[in-house]
Amino acid sequence: MKKYKKNPLQENIFEEYEKITKGSGLEQVSKVMVQFGERSYSEDHKDKWHRGIGRIRKDFTQASTRTTGKARNSLGGRAEEVALIARSFKETRWKNGLEIGVGWGISTIWFANNLLLRKDLEETFFQTIDKYYLNGEKKYSMSKMRHENIKKLQEIIPINWDHSGIGSDKWFKDYKGSKKFHIVFIDGNHSYESTKADWLNVERILDEDCIVFFHDLSRTTQDRAYPAVARKLFEEISVEKYEKLILNTHYRLGVLYPKDNTETATWLDKNLKDLKIEVYLANPTGPPENKDGW
Ligand SMILES: C[S@@+](CC[C@H](N)C(=O)[O-])C[C@H]1O[C@@H](n2cnc3c(N)ncnc32)[C@H](O)[C@@H]1O
Repeated sequence: MKKYKKNPLQENIFEEYEKITKGSGLEQVSKVMVQFGERSYSEDHKDKWHRGIGRIRKDFTQASTRTTGKARNSLGGRAEEVALIARSFKETRWKNGLEIGVGWGISTIWFANNLLLRKDLEETFFQTIDKYYLNGEKKYSMSKMRHENIKKLQEIIPINWDHSGIGSDKWFKDYKGSKKFHIVFIDGNHSYESTKADWLNVERILDEDCIVFFHDLSRTTQDRAYPAVARKLFEEISVEKYEKLILNTHYRLGVLYPKDNTETATWLDKNLKDLKIEVYLANPTGPPENKDGW
């Protein structure tokens, strides 16, 4: 696991992260995820990265099993899609990133880490938003841990990073800033209404040069947690204005960018090939009649 070359900054982050999360189980999950990201960081390790993917998946699954107490084999399947989004955080033409729904910070630590490594760090900005339960509510202790975790991440990854725990709905309502965002990952409340509200709000603060990722468009995740909702919203977004792709990853990642942005088309093409991610559907405009194979 430790045989490849480490970037000194990242090494520091692993150590710090391990220290502050010791005993919580989180150190394992996020560490494996960051180590995985590290491979994608280095061009020299591209081949090894692909060869190592099976092992990383296994490690990640074991780590998440330790954390949650039950096997969650599919967690390791997130690796490629998170890697793709994380790569967008390395592009200097995209300065401002927004993540709605940080959970345990598994994707977040990777994005933040990539920003930290940028030469134009001073010009970048990272906004994260989650929604934490109020004291006394059922899931309070878990959401409190998540919240603490993000605060710790902010301490050890010194970038221009604002985190809000009030929920995207309220955050957008309160947002008076003029900042436009280049990279957005929508992974908060996946109900149709919330995903739609998030998208409409996000659209108002998008830079002309932007890329937006939507998580969980697969049938399995939609059926299990919600009735095919984030996917429905994604299908409804205009194909006149945007190029839309559903990627063939474990959870099906939706990606959109302004039509005719050839630079982004080229970037996506290269990185999909590189990460061996296939396109599942291009420019979908309505939920398929037959739901098999979502
Ligand atoms: C699937 S998790 C995010 C996982 C994370 N992006 C990752 O890839 O590791 C979804 C998160 O969305 C949060 N959430 C739910 N409703 C929200 C809302 N209205 N605004 C922001 N976050 C919300 C939940 O608290 C949860 O932490």
